[in-house]
Amino acid sequence: MEIKQLPGPFGVAVEGVDLSQDMSDTTMRSLIGLLHDHQILVIRNQRLSDDDYVRFGSKWGRPLSFMIKSHTHNEHPELIRINNAASTPARYRDGAMHWHADSTYEKEPASVTMLYGVEAPEFGGETLIASARFAYDALDEETKQRIDGLTAQHCLGGSPELPGEKIPIVADQIAMQGVQQHPLVLRHPVTGTKAIFTSGTAFGAVGLEREEGRELIDKLRRHITRPEFTTSYKIEAGDVFLWDNFQVLHSATPIEYSDEDGKRRLLYRISTKGLPDLCQQEVA
Ligand SMILES: [Fe+2]
Repeated sequence: MEIKQLPGPFGVAVEGVDLSQDMSDTTMRSLIGLLHDHQILVIRNQRLSDDDYVRFGSKWGRPLSFMIKSHTHNEHPELIRINNAASTPARYRDGAMHWHADSTYEKEPASVTMLYGVEAPEFGGETLIASARFAYDALDEETKQRIDGLTAQHCLGGSPELPGEKIPIVADQIAMQGVQQHPLVLRHPVTGTKAIFTSGTAFGAVGLEREEGRELIDKLRRHITRPEFTTSYKIEAGDVFLWDNFQVLHSATPIEYSDEDGKRRLLYRISTKGLPDLCQQEVA
């Protein structure tokens, strides 16, 4: 396995691993360690069947089934199809183009998200990633002490907006999911490192006045997305790109909706909940 640092402040790429083959526990442990240490991981040069990809994805935890059923694969509900077909209805365009972590509007947020690139456009479609772990580490001691024990309140579409963001607010989904509570500072369940956990859904904190809570969340989100904590990655065909949802926020960037050669994008997403089986015994 060859490991290279990605450009930017964090993240690594590996080559020389074939995910279509059943891998050894040693190799899987190495991949898990790389993701936990480096926050984002790309595994290059893959050619995976749906079964191969689901088998690999399931090694990271329990794959979640996505709330928008029209986006899921007919035979594999774990696979979420992301494309830029010209026929995409307006309500489904650019839905991920805001800073967030996945499934924080649910009782149990996602632990890992991965995207497998089948087709990539020549230009555009980068994914932005911000390290909420580095952002936490850079806080002054007073702020760390202030936020360490706080619990954030989340609901879908609940966050104050950052400039240029478009947050999809779907009223019936808010009603369906309700308000969830997660620690504002999340201690990583495997490594023990801390990260600010605001996502795009946090709107307040338990025990704070509504306006004070909103201001705090807004300030922390601006801090996390400062340039020194952010990087971007463009997923190419054959890449499996993973992020640790407990350590980073992510955002899609604009992409042209087109069926033309050189402009199409097709990605398959799997998000998991819980920990890899290989980590269960370590944290037990
Ligand atoms: Fe997302």
